[in-house]
Amino acid sequence: MIGRPAAALLACAALGTLAAASEIRPSRDFLSPELRAQQDDPSRHPGWLWVEEGEALWRRGEASCQSCHGDIAGMAGVAARYPAVAADGVLLNLEGRIERCRTQHQAQRAFGYESEPLLSLTAAVALRSRGMPVSVAVDGPAAPFVEAGRRFYETRQGQLNLACTQCHDENAGRRLRGDVISNGLGTGYPAYRLEWNALGSLHRRLRACSLGVRATQFDFGSPEYLALELYLASRANGLPIEAPGLRR
Ligand code: HEC
Ligand code: HEC
Repeated sequence: MIGRPAAALLACAALGTLAAASEIRPSRDFLSPELRAQQDDPSRHPGWLWVEEGEALWRRGEASCQSCHGDIAGMAGVAARYPAVAADGVLLNLEGRIERCRTQHQAQRAFGYESEPLLSLTAAVALRSRGMPVSVAVDGPAAPFVEAGRRFYETRQGQLNLACTQCHDENAGRRLRGDVISNGLGTGYPAYRLEWNALGSLHRRLRACSLGVRATQFDFGSPEYLALELYLASRANGLPIEAPGLRR
């Protein structure tokens, strides 16, 4: 059962070396024209239900997000800088940053990874950077995390013994199980995935890729996926934020 896809992929990988070292392209370039048009059109994008919920949450209650940050429009450009290392040395993605505000500034219980309110707020904040170029810091305190993420990305894993790079660089543009393999960027997340019938985080997508090669699935918000997320963002530096994305 595992032999066949692995063999098929390795055959692809052998061909793929010819096409390797090509540039990294925005995720939207790999979408079908239909899905791309739908991603661009809020009236046909189910992810907007989460955006609207997030914008309502932003304003809700006395110690609301808005009470400190003002209108959510002020979040323009913020998502493009995450993941980032906080003053205490902890690597935070946008979800982690929002959870910190929730627990430290609002003195409330964390929403929890993959919960509706956290996905909604993350989508609403990320939308404010839509179309802006990713601009994560990769030097200084971020450097060791980028390096850990790069190692993860290049290491063969799981029963299929495949590294991220073998699919997302060497075989980008080829079809696999009905998908066109992209460069594996996180710029469209959180994304509404038709297969999920819901909005989901980048870490949910990463867990699906880990499962696809029968490798360890790390926890949502785990240090492994956080470092990987930063490395993916470093690959995407200069490319546009697409969140909330729309995916098969
Ligand atoms: C009591 C004030 C306060 C509240 C309420 C608050 N925050 Fe914050 N937030 C801050 C401060 C201060 C920072 C800067 C980092 C720090 O010192 O923690 C920050 C940073 C952020 C950042 C990163 C901004 C950047 O430029 O990097 C985001 C995103 C954010 N908050 C989202 C939220 C959301 C979403 C909520 C509501 C769930 C919220 N905050 C509630 C005070 C608050
Ligand atoms: C067997 C091939 C394969 C491997 C190995 C693989 N992926 Fe994927 N990945 C896919 C396919 C297929 C998709 C869905 C199509 C797409 O978006 O690229 C996908 C989607 C993604 C996406 C979502 C892109 C988007 O815009 O929606 C990210 C991010 C990603 N992969 C990262 C990774 C990382 C990081 C690894 C290594 C831990 C990895 N993948 C390993 C095949 C693979």
